[in-house]
Amino acid sequence: MLKTRDLTKVYNENVLAVNKLNLKVEDGEIYVVLGGNGAGKSTTMSMLLNFIEPTSGTAFVNDIEIPKFPLEAKKHLAYVSENVELYRNFTARQNLSFFAKLGGRKSVSNAELDATLGRVGLPEAAFTRRVKTFSKGMRQRLGIAITIMKNAKAVLLDEPTSGLDPKGGADFLNLLRELKEEGTSIFMSTHDIFRAKEIADTIGILVQGNLELELTREEILKENLEALYLQYVAGYTPKADTAA
Ligand SMILES: Nc1ncnc2c1ncn2[C@@H]1O[C@H](COP(=O)(O)OP(=O)(O)OP(=O)(O)O)[C@@H](O)[C@H]1O
Ligand SMILES: [Mg+2]
Repeated sequence: MLKTRDLTKVYNENVLAVNKLNLKVEDGEIYVVLGGNGAGKSTTMSMLLNFIEPTSGTAFVNDIEIPKFPLEAKKHLAYVSENVELYRNFTARQNLSFFAKLGGRKSVSNAELDATLGRVGLPEAAFTRRVKTFSKGMRQRLGIAITIMKNAKAVLLDEPTSGLDPKGGADFLNLLRELKEEGTSIFMSTHDIFRAKEIADTIGILVQGNLELELTREEILKENLEALYLQYVAGYTPKADTAA
């Protein structure tokens, strides 16, 4: 569903942010990318969304080459970022309705809007409140609702759980499982190794723009993910346990 081929980004002719990235996310697969600050996660997402142009290489969604056919490609992609952009003076329901229409939906009933807002765990009293009164986690939930409404084949999530409380985080993983069941491909970045371990079919570890390691579900369950991550990202080898 989602595929990159030697995808590369160099900023200002000297910052190699993403280096010849080759990865694939199948239908109904959850691919989680881990990597330290500045590893190139957001840059990768931005290229997949055609927010920025690759320096070289390319990417595909549903076999559509994203940089060449950005409008066609966007129909298949939905995106939630760390800081969801919403209309502050609109209510949650108005925002959802607005973005659904922007995403190509013709008419959407209030019942469907409310069902989706409920699905992401917003309390009913919040449906008709202006978004400027929302907490970060509430805005993020609304962002996820917008994604669901789009019915996209591939969903890109850049640190989607960073503003969620523990219950929100757990609810969110369940939502991802539901989307996966429906055949949606999910490409998500996070700093949360534990959630990654719980949900990912594949984990990729990005170090200074290079995909250093990919783990299958089997390997994720077998390996000590935290130790592996530290080893790759920080070149850190844990000391032998010398405690008596
Ligand atoms: N607009 C830009 N202009 C120049 N350099 C940039 C730009 N955006 C990102 N970079 C650089 O590209 C590299 C990758 O950054 P990116 O934001 O993709 O990392 P990230 O993995 O998302 O990090 P974080 O975990 O902090 O969100 C970094 O070295 C960063 O400084
Ligand atoms: Mg980032």
